[in-house]
Amino acid sequence: MKVAGKSTRSIELAADGWAAVIIDQTRLPHDFVLRRLENLAQAAEAIRDMWVRGAPLIGATAAYGMALAMRADPSDENLENAARTLMATRPTAVNLRWAVEDMRARLKPLGPQVRTGAAYARAAEICEEDVATNRAIGEHGLELLRKAWEAGGEQDRVNVLTHCNAGWLATVDWGTALAPIYLAQDAGIPVHVWADETRPRNQGASLTAWELGQHGVPHTVIADNAGGHLMQHGMVDLCIVGTDRTTARGDVCNKIGTYLKALAAHDNGVPFYVGLPGPTIDWSIEDGLVEIPIEERDGREVSEITGLNQVGQIETVRLTPDGSPVANHAFDVTPARLVTGLITERGVCPATTEGLLSLYPERHNSMRGT
Ligand code: MRU
Repeated sequence: MKVAGKSTRSIELAADGWAAVIIDQTRLPHDFVLRRLENLAQAAEAIRDMWVRGAPLIGATAAYGMALAMRADPSDENLENAARTLMATRPTAVNLRWAVEDMRARLKPLGPQVRTGAAYARAAEICEEDVATNRAIGEHGLELLRKAWEAGGEQDRVNVLTHCNAGWLATVDWGTALAPIYLAQDAGIPVHVWADETRPRNQGASLTAWELGQHGVPHTVIADNAGGHLMQHGMVDLCIVGTDRTTARGDVCNKIGTYLKALAAHDNGVPFYVGLPGPTIDWSIEDGLVEIPIEERDGREVSEITGLNQVGQIETVRLTPDGSPVANHAFDVTPARLVTGLITERGVCPATTEGLLSLYPERHNSMRGT
Protein backbone atom coordinates (compact mmCIF):
# COMPACT_ATOMS: atom_id res chain seq x y z
CA MET A 1 0.00 0.00 0.00
CA LYS A 2 1.00 3.63 -0.18
CA VAL A 3 3.01 5.82 2.19
CA ALA A 4 3.14 9.41 0.97
CA GLY A 5 2.12 8.08 -2.44
CA LYS A 6 4.94 5.47 -2.58
CA SER A 7 4.21 1.72 -2.62
CA THR A 8 5.55 0.28 0.60
CA ARG A 9 5.57 -3.09 2.34
CA SER A 10 5.78 -3.64 6.08
CA ILE A 11 8.85 -5.88 5.69
CA GLU A 12 11.34 -6.01 2.84
CA LEU A 13 14.82 -7.23 2.12
CA ALA A 14 17.38 -4.40 2.27
CA ALA A 15 19.20 -3.34 -0.89
CA ASP A 16 22.26 -5.26 0.38
CA GLY A 17 20.21 -8.46 0.00
CA TRP A 18 20.58 -9.83 3.53
CA ALA A 19 19.14 -7.55 6.26
CA ALA A 20 15.37 -7.26 6.70
CA VAL A 21 13.93 -3.75 6.79
CA ILE A 22 10.81 -3.09 8.84
CA ILE A 23 8.72 -0.07 9.77
CA ASP A 24 9.06 0.67 13.49
CA GLN A 25 5.36 0.62 14.34
CA THR A 26 5.96 1.91 17.86
CA ARG A 27 6.78 5.31 16.29
CA LEU A 28 3.66 5.61 14.12
CA PRO A 29 1.66 7.70 13.43
CA HIS A 30 4.03 10.52 14.42
CA ASP A 31 7.30 9.26 12.90
CA PHE A 32 7.87 6.99 9.91
CA VAL A 33 11.05 5.17 10.84
CA LEU A 34 12.59 2.19 9.02
CA ARG A 35 14.80 -0.20 10.99
CA ARG A 36 17.23 -2.85 9.84
CA LEU A 37 17.08 -6.30 11.40
CA GLU A 38 20.56 -7.79 11.11
CA ASN A 39 20.48 -10.82 13.38
CA LEU A 40 18.26 -13.26 15.24
CA ALA A 41 18.29 -11.22 18.46
CA GLN A 42 17.01 -8.13 16.66
CA ALA A 43 14.27 -10.08 14.89
CA ALA A 44 13.14 -11.53 18.22
CA GLU A 45 13.25 -8.09 19.87
CA ALA A 46 11.25 -6.57 16.99
CA ILE A 47 8.46 -9.10 17.55
CA ARG A 48 8.53 -9.06 21.37
CA ASP A 49 8.61 -5.26 21.68
CA MET A 50 6.09 -4.83 18.86
CA TRP A 51 8.14 -2.81 16.38
CA VAL A 52 6.29 -5.26 14.16
CA ARG A 53 2.99 -6.76 15.17
CA GLY A 54 -0.12 -8.36 13.67
CA ALA A 55 -0.26 -12.12 13.24
CA PRO A 56 0.86 -12.45 9.58
CA LEU A 57 3.67 -9.89 9.93
CA ILE A 58 4.92 -11.62 13.08
CA GLY A 59 5.14 -14.82 11.00
CA ALA A 60 6.96 -13.09 8.12
CA THR A 61 9.44 -11.44 10.52
CA ALA A 62 10.10 -14.77 12.22
CA ALA A 63 10.83 -16.31 8.80
CA TYR A 64 13.47 -13.63 8.17
CA GLY A 65 14.70 -14.13 11.75
CA MET A 66 15.40 -17.77 10.87
CA ALA A 67 17.21 -16.68 7.68
CA LEU A 68 19.34 -14.18 9.61
CA ALA A 69 20.19 -16.88 12.16
CA MET A 70 21.27 -19.26 9.37
CA ARG A 71 23.43 -16.55 7.83
CA ALA A 72 25.34 -16.26 11.11
CA ASP A 73 25.58 -20.00 11.81
CA PRO A 74 23.75 -22.62 9.71
CA SER A 75 24.40 -25.51 12.13
CA ASP A 76 21.68 -27.92 13.37
CA GLU A 77 22.17 -26.52 16.84
CA ASN A 78 21.57 -22.94 15.73
CA LEU A 79 18.53 -23.95 13.69
CA GLU A 80 16.93 -25.31 16.86
CA ASN A 81 18.09 -22.31 18.89
CA ALA A 82 16.58 -19.86 16.38
CA ALA A 83 13.26 -21.72 16.33
CA ARG A 84 13.15 -21.74 20.18
CA THR A 85 14.13 -18.07 20.48
CA LEU A 86 11.51 -16.86 18.02
CA MET A 87 8.74 -19.09 19.39
CA ALA A 88 9.27 -17.56 22.85
CA THR A 89 8.58 -13.99 21.69
CA ARG A 90 4.76 -13.83 21.66
CA PRO A 91 2.38 -16.65 22.54
CA THR A 92 -1.00 -15.96 20.95
CA ALA A 93 -0.65 -15.46 17.18
CA VAL A 94 -0.37 -18.93 15.69
CA ASN A 95 1.23 -17.57 12.49
CA LEU A 96 4.48 -17.36 14.46
CA ARG A 97 4.45 -21.09 15.14
CA TRP A 98 3.33 -21.78 11.58
CA ALA A 99 6.20 -19.80 10.03
CA VAL A 100 8.87 -21.14 12.38
CA GLU A 101 7.75 -24.75 11.92
CA ASP A 102 7.54 -24.32 8.16
CA MET A 103 11.08 -22.91 8.00
CA ARG A 104 12.47 -25.50 10.40
CA ALA A 105 10.88 -28.44 8.53
CA ARG A 106 12.29 -27.24 5.19
CA LEU A 107 15.77 -26.38 6.48
CA LYS A 108 16.38 -29.37 8.75
CA PRO A 109 16.87 -31.98 5.97
CA LEU A 110 19.30 -29.68 4.11
CA GLY A 111 23.03 -29.60 4.70
CA PRO A 112 24.31 -26.49 6.55
CA GLN A 113 26.10 -25.27 3.39
CA VAL A 114 22.80 -24.68 1.54
CA ARG A 115 20.61 -23.67 4.45
CA THR A 116 21.15 -19.93 4.31
CA GLY A 117 20.14 -19.59 0.66
CA ALA A 118 17.11 -21.84 1.19
CA ALA A 119 16.07 -19.86 4.28
CA TYR A 120 16.11 -16.52 2.46
CA ALA A 121 14.26 -18.03 -0.50
CA ARG A 122 11.51 -19.46 1.73
CA ALA A 123 11.20 -16.26 3.80
CA ALA A 124 10.69 -14.29 0.58
CA GLU A 125 8.13 -16.85 -0.58
CA ILE A 126 6.21 -16.61 2.72
CA CYS A 127 6.00 -12.85 2.19
CA GLU A 128 4.78 -13.21 -1.40
CA GLU A 129 2.22 -15.81 -0.35
CA ASP A 130 0.95 -13.46 2.35
CA VAL A 131 0.45 -10.65 -0.17
CA ALA A 132 -1.45 -12.91 -2.60
CA THR A 133 -3.53 -14.41 0.21
CA ASN A 134 -4.55 -11.03 1.58
CA ARG A 135 -5.46 -9.75 -1.86
CA ALA A 136 -7.74 -12.80 -2.27
CA ILE A 137 -9.31 -12.15 1.17
CA GLY A 138 -9.91 -8.61 -0.06
CA GLU A 139 -11.69 -9.82 -3.18
CA HIS A 140 -14.03 -12.10 -1.24
CA GLY A 141 -14.71 -9.40 1.35
CA LEU A 142 -15.31 -6.85 -1.39
CA GLU A 143 -18.40 -8.80 -2.46
CA LEU A 144 -19.81 -8.45 1.07
CA LEU A 145 -19.22 -4.70 0.99
CA ARG A 146 -20.74 -4.45 -2.47
CA LYS A 147 -23.88 -6.24 -1.22
CA ALA A 148 -24.05 -3.99 1.85
CA TRP A 149 -23.75 -0.94 -0.42
CA GLU A 150 -26.45 -2.19 -2.80
CA ALA A 151 -28.75 -3.05 0.14
CA GLY A 152 -28.17 0.35 1.73
CA GLY A 153 -30.96 2.19 -0.11
CA GLU A 154 -30.74 5.90 0.64
CA GLN A 155 -27.50 5.55 2.60
CA ASP A 156 -24.60 7.56 1.23
CA ARG A 157 -21.87 5.22 2.45
CA VAL A 158 -21.14 1.77 3.88
CA ASN A 159 -20.05 2.00 7.51
CA VAL A 160 -17.61 -0.66 8.66
CA LEU A 161 -16.41 -0.95 12.24
CA THR A 162 -13.00 -2.51 12.86
CA HIS A 163 -10.97 -3.19 15.98
CA CYS A 164 -7.20 -3.01 16.43
CA ASN A 165 -5.16 -3.00 13.22
CA ALA A 166 -5.62 -5.80 10.72
CA GLY A 167 -4.48 -3.69 7.79
CA TRP A 168 -1.35 -3.80 5.68
CA LEU A 169 0.79 -2.86 8.66
CA ALA A 170 -0.28 -6.12 10.33
CA THR A 171 0.62 -8.20 7.28
CA VAL A 172 3.19 -7.88 4.49
CA ASP A 173 0.69 -5.94 2.35
CA TRP A 174 -3.06 -5.33 1.94
CA GLY A 175 -4.09 -6.56 5.40
CA THR A 176 -6.85 -9.01 6.22
CA ALA A 177 -9.82 -7.08 7.65
CA LEU A 178 -8.85 -3.93 5.75
CA ALA A 179 -8.09 -5.55 2.36
CA PRO A 180 -11.80 -5.56 1.37
CA ILE A 181 -11.99 -1.89 2.36
CA TYR A 182 -9.07 -0.89 0.15
CA LEU A 183 -10.54 -2.81 -2.78
CA ALA A 184 -13.98 -1.28 -2.17
CA GLN A 185 -12.47 2.20 -2.12
CA ASP A 186 -10.61 1.45 -5.36
CA ALA A 187 -13.86 0.09 -6.89
CA GLY A 188 -15.68 3.34 -6.14
CA ILE A 189 -17.85 2.02 -3.28
CA PRO A 190 -18.14 4.82 -0.71
CA VAL A 191 -16.82 3.13 2.39
CA HIS A 192 -16.28 4.71 5.79
CA VAL A 193 -14.47 3.03 8.66
CA TRP A 194 -15.12 3.42 12.38
CA ALA A 195 -11.69 2.69 13.84
CA ASP A 196 -11.79 1.58 17.49
CA GLU A 197 -8.90 3.25 19.30
CA THR A 198 -7.96 -0.16 20.82
CA ARG A 199 -6.56 0.55 24.24
CA PRO A 200 -4.11 -0.11 25.68
CA ARG A 201 -1.68 0.13 22.76
CA ASN A 202 -4.02 2.10 20.50
CA GLN A 203 -3.34 0.19 17.29
CA GLY A 204 -6.64 1.54 15.93
CA ALA A 205 -6.02 5.20 16.76
CA SER A 206 -2.40 5.17 15.66
CA LEU A 207 -2.00 2.47 12.98
CA THR A 208 -5.43 1.85 11.39
CA ALA A 209 -6.19 5.57 11.22
CA TRP A 210 -2.74 6.26 9.76
CA GLU A 211 -2.81 3.63 7.05
CA LEU A 212 -6.40 4.41 6.03
CA GLY A 213 -5.46 8.08 5.85
CA GLN A 214 -2.44 7.32 3.66
CA HIS A 215 -4.75 5.53 1.21
CA GLY A 216 -7.43 8.21 1.38
CA VAL A 217 -10.11 6.04 2.99
CA PRO A 218 -12.65 8.07 5.00
CA HIS A 219 -12.48 7.01 8.63
CA THR A 220 -13.33 8.17 12.14
CA VAL A 221 -11.48 7.12 15.29
CA ILE A 222 -13.81 6.25 18.16
CA ALA A 223 -13.30 5.38 21.80
CA ASP A 224 -13.45 1.64 22.34
CA ASN A 225 -16.66 2.04 24.31
CA ALA A 226 -18.53 3.78 21.47
CA GLY A 227 -19.20 0.82 19.19
CA GLY A 228 -22.31 -0.45 20.99
CA HIS A 229 -23.92 2.97 20.86
CA LEU A 230 -23.20 3.33 17.13
CA MET A 231 -24.66 -0.10 16.44
CA GLN A 232 -27.82 0.68 18.42
CA HIS A 233 -28.32 3.72 16.22
CA GLY A 234 -27.88 1.97 12.86
CA MET A 235 -24.52 3.62 12.23
CA VAL A 236 -22.61 0.40 11.56
CA ASP A 237 -23.48 -1.81 8.56
CA LEU A 238 -20.98 -4.50 9.35
CA CYS A 239 -17.96 -5.24 11.50
CA ILE A 240 -14.79 -6.74 10.06
CA VAL A 241 -11.90 -7.66 12.33
CA GLY A 242 -8.75 -9.75 12.04
CA THR A 243 -7.62 -12.66 14.19
CA ASP A 244 -4.46 -14.02 15.77
CA ARG A 245 -5.72 -17.59 15.99
CA THR A 246 -8.94 -19.22 14.87
CA THR A 247 -9.76 -22.70 16.08
CA ALA A 248 -10.97 -25.63 13.96
CA ARG A 249 -14.55 -24.94 15.11
CA GLY A 250 -14.36 -21.22 14.31
CA ASP A 251 -13.68 -19.58 17.70
CA VAL A 252 -11.78 -16.37 17.01
CA CYS A 253 -9.01 -14.96 19.17
CA ASN A 254 -8.20 -11.32 18.49
CA LYS A 255 -7.13 -8.11 20.24
CA ILE A 256 -8.72 -7.52 23.64
CA GLY A 257 -12.14 -5.93 23.23
CA THR A 258 -13.11 -7.80 20.07
CA TYR A 259 -15.50 -10.03 22.04
CA LEU A 260 -17.45 -7.03 23.36
CA LYS A 261 -17.89 -5.74 19.80
CA ALA A 262 -19.15 -9.15 18.69
CA LEU A 263 -21.66 -9.18 21.57
CA ALA A 264 -22.93 -5.73 20.65
CA ALA A 265 -23.13 -6.71 16.96
CA HIS A 266 -25.10 -9.85 17.84
CA ASP A 267 -27.54 -7.88 20.01
CA ASN A 268 -28.11 -5.34 17.23
CA GLY A 269 -28.26 -7.69 14.23
CA VAL A 270 -25.05 -6.24 12.75
CA PRO A 271 -23.08 -8.84 10.72
CA PHE A 272 -19.72 -9.63 12.35
CA TYR A 273 -17.06 -10.91 9.93
CA VAL A 274 -13.49 -11.99 10.53
CA GLY A 275 -10.80 -11.81 7.83
CA LEU A 276 -8.07 -14.45 8.05
CA PRO A 277 -5.46 -16.29 6.01
CA GLY A 278 -5.11 -20.09 6.19
CA PRO A 279 -2.01 -19.98 8.45
CA THR A 280 -4.09 -18.29 11.20
CA ILE A 281 -6.24 -21.40 11.61
CA ASP A 282 -5.04 -23.66 14.41
CA TRP A 283 -6.46 -27.02 13.30
CA SER A 284 -5.16 -28.73 16.42
CA ILE A 285 -7.59 -27.03 18.82
CA GLU A 286 -11.35 -26.56 19.10
CA ASP A 287 -12.22 -24.59 22.22
CA GLY A 288 -10.58 -21.19 21.96
CA LEU A 289 -11.53 -20.15 25.49
CA VAL A 290 -9.68 -23.05 27.06
CA GLU A 291 -6.92 -23.78 24.60
CA ILE A 292 -5.53 -20.49 23.29
CA PRO A 293 -2.73 -18.95 25.39
CA ILE A 294 -3.63 -15.32 26.05
CA GLU A 295 -0.62 -13.02 26.20
CA GLU A 296 -0.35 -10.83 29.30
CA ARG A 297 1.84 -7.81 28.67
CA ASP A 298 3.56 -5.20 30.79
CA GLY A 299 1.07 -3.25 32.93
CA ARG A 300 2.69 0.03 31.89
CA GLU A 301 0.84 -0.32 28.57
CA VAL A 302 -2.32 0.28 30.65
CA SER A 303 -1.06 2.69 33.29
CA GLU A 304 0.76 4.93 30.80
CA ILE A 305 -0.04 6.48 27.45
CA THR A 306 2.24 7.77 24.71
CA GLY A 307 1.50 10.57 22.27
CA LEU A 308 2.73 13.80 20.74
CA ASN A 309 3.09 16.67 23.21
CA GLN A 310 2.41 20.31 22.44
CA VAL A 311 5.94 20.97 21.26
CA GLY A 312 5.84 18.05 18.84
CA GLN A 313 7.82 15.51 20.86
CA ILE A 314 6.70 11.96 21.55
CA GLU A 315 6.07 11.69 25.28
CA THR A 316 4.78 9.04 27.69
CA VAL A 317 2.66 10.05 30.69
CA ARG A 318 1.06 8.10 33.54
CA LEU A 319 -2.75 7.79 33.72
CA THR A 320 -3.32 5.81 36.90
CA PRO A 321 -2.61 6.65 40.55
CA ASP A 322 0.91 5.75 41.58
CA GLY A 323 0.76 2.22 42.95
CA SER A 324 -2.64 1.15 41.57
CA PRO A 325 -2.34 -2.41 40.29
CA VAL A 326 -3.13 -2.92 36.60
CA ALA A 327 -3.81 -5.98 34.44
CA ASN A 328 -3.05 -6.24 30.74
CA HIS A 329 -4.64 -9.21 28.97
CA ALA A 330 -3.81 -8.58 25.33
CA PHE A 331 -6.36 -10.82 23.54
CA ASP A 332 -9.81 -12.29 23.99
CA VAL A 333 -11.80 -15.07 22.36
CA THR A 334 -15.04 -14.51 20.46
CA PRO A 335 -17.04 -17.75 20.38
CA ALA A 336 -17.92 -18.98 16.89
CA ARG A 337 -21.66 -18.50 17.56
CA LEU A 338 -21.14 -14.70 17.48
CA VAL A 339 -19.30 -14.74 14.13
CA THR A 340 -21.39 -14.27 10.96
CA GLY A 341 -18.69 -15.52 8.62
CA LEU A 342 -14.97 -16.08 8.10
CA ILE A 343 -13.47 -14.32 5.08
CA THR A 344 -10.53 -16.40 3.89
CA GLU A 345 -8.41 -16.45 0.74
CA ARG A 346 -10.57 -19.34 -0.47
CA GLY A 347 -13.94 -17.71 0.10
CA VAL A 348 -16.37 -16.87 2.92
CA CYS A 349 -17.62 -19.66 5.18
CA PRO A 350 -19.62 -20.07 8.38
CA ALA A 351 -17.56 -20.13 11.59
CA THR A 352 -17.97 -23.89 12.04
CA THR A 353 -15.83 -26.97 11.54
CA GLU A 354 -17.91 -27.91 8.50
CA GLY A 355 -17.59 -24.39 7.09
CA LEU A 356 -13.80 -24.37 7.44
CA LEU A 357 -13.41 -27.89 6.07
CA SER A 358 -15.54 -26.98 3.05
CA LEU A 359 -12.78 -24.49 2.12
CA TYR A 360 -9.79 -26.49 3.40
CA PRO A 361 -10.78 -30.15 2.81
CA GLU A 362 -7.12 -31.21 2.85
CA ARG A 363 -6.92 -30.22 6.54
CA HIS A 364 -9.37 -32.89 7.65
CA ASN A 365 -6.52 -35.01 8.97
CA SER A 366 -4.88 -32.09 10.80
CA MET A 367 -7.75 -31.93 13.27
CA ARG A 368 -7.26 -33.44 16.68
CA GLY A 369 -8.83 -36.88 17.05
CA THR A 370 -8.75 -37.65 13.32
O1 MRU B 1 -0.96 -7.13 19.58
P1 MRU B 1 -1.07 -6.99 18.09
O2 MRU B 1 -1.04 -5.58 17.63
O3 MRU B 1 -0.05 -7.87 17.39
O4 MRU B 1 -2.50 -7.57 17.75
C1 MRU B 1 -2.91 -7.60 16.41
C2 MRU B 1 -4.30 -8.05 16.24
O5 MRU B 1 -5.00 -8.36 17.17
C3 MRU B 1 -4.78 -8.21 14.82
O6 MRU B 1 -6.15 -7.99 14.75
C4 MRU B 1 -4.49 -9.63 14.33
O7 MRU B 1 -3.14 -9.95 14.51
C5 MRU B 1 -4.84 -9.81 12.91
S1 MRU B 1 -3.71 -9.01 11.85
C6 MRU B 1 -4.12 -9.26 10.23
